[in-house]
Amino acid sequence: MTVNGTYPIDRIRGDFPILSEKVRSKPLIYLDNGASAQKPSTVINQISKTYEAGYANVHRGVHYMSQIATDAMEAARKKVQNFLNAEDEKEIIFVRGATEGINLVATSWGRANLRSGDEIILSVLEHHSNIVPWQLIAEQTGAIIKVVPIDDNGGFILDEFEKLLTERTRIVAITHVSNALGTVVPVAEVINLAHQNGSIVLLDGCQGAPHMAVDVTDLDADFYVFSGHKLYGPSGIGVLYGKKALLEEMPPYQSGGEMIDRVTFEKTTYAELPFKFEAGTPHIAGIIALGTAIDYVQGIGFDAIREHENKLLQYSTERLSEMNSVDIIGTAEDKAAILSFNLRDVHPHDVGTILDHEGVAVRTGHHCAQPVMDRFDLSATVRASFGLYNTHEEVDALVAGLQRVQEMLG
Ligand SMILES: Cc1ncc(COP(=O)(O)O)c(C=O)c1O
Repeated sequence: MTVNGTYPIDRIRGDFPILSEKVRSKPLIYLDNGASAQKPSTVINQISKTYEAGYANVHRGVHYMSQIATDAMEAARKKVQNFLNAEDEKEIIFVRGATEGINLVATSWGRANLRSGDEIILSVLEHHSNIVPWQLIAEQTGAIIKVVPIDDNGGFILDEFEKLLTERTRIVAITHVSNALGTVVPVAEVINLAHQNGSIVLLDGCQGAPHMAVDVTDLDADFYVFSGHKLYGPSGIGVLYGKKALLEEMPPYQSGGEMIDRVTFEKTTYAELPFKFEAGTPHIAGIIALGTAIDYVQGIGFDAIREHENKLLQYSTERLSEMNSVDIIGTAEDKAAILSFNLRDVHPHDVGTILDHEGVAVRTGHHCAQPVMDRFDLSATVRASFGLYNTHEEVDALVAGLQRVQEMLG
């Protein structure tokens, strides 16, 4: 959405109450969206509204409030289906977040399908959440993990990926966008090559879904996961999309209430999708508010969001490149709005601490992506990650903060 051809940044910023907060008497400049994004009033209000006027447990009661809550939760599932362009709402499983979604697939699909000597392909770009669950299942099944390298710009090397595919490759689990570097992985090509090889693909969409339109049907993705809290929605709720045929064949991941059809001590039968994978009482208010977050993002539209964030990325890259002693890490051709860098001779944590005194919130550390850090021989970077409400003035404040760091420590 643009108004007279311009991105309505003032109106958008007005939708996020926290952006008017002061930090140490300075305006909050929030550049840590890759870790978690702030919430618009509609999402915040929806949570109160659910508890004030539409709350009970779901899928259980015949009473009015239970029906209201169940209908709202299932309406949110429809919104997610539409958001990802999934063919069937039964393919949308609510989980706690991307981490739980990946663990679900690694455990449930992995136990049923992986045998000793089978191969799992990951890439150097993965977040620990898309490494460790596969290591655990590899240990349990005897499967082998192979890793796609990246180039000096942090780009995914498609040719090397192709070389790793063998007749034993069962699954490829790859990030859509790198949280540490911002690299956008050519996922359509990855899926094509994997499918030609007879392998399935899980995409970790944590940093993809907040920045660009995702069409799982067009991509032909087998699994896609994302977390609500990075998409301007609540924490504690996320989504696993899976193709129906795959999910139907997979055994339950967790068990308990909600996920059963009939229980006796002799034998239990399971509920249909998606409930087979939704054991226990879900995060009802969170699911409903995730639907509101999706409404919010779709109201602006990814064409406008992408264009705005690309301008911020380009501007911040230019400004930091002009500075002395700044090394930008991750300069792949296709990037989402994430800028990782270091000031020479200054520890990233010191950079982050001084920026914090200027009201600028950035992430410092390994970003739960230690293999990426190892690839560049680093232990940590400073990461500015932009969202739909950030501005060029905030980039200027970041640069001014970095100049201050250099005056103090450089
Ligand atoms: C690429 C990527 N994958 C997975 C995760 C884990 O997400 P969550 O902690 O919401 O489960 C993150 C979070 O930073 C991420 O950036």
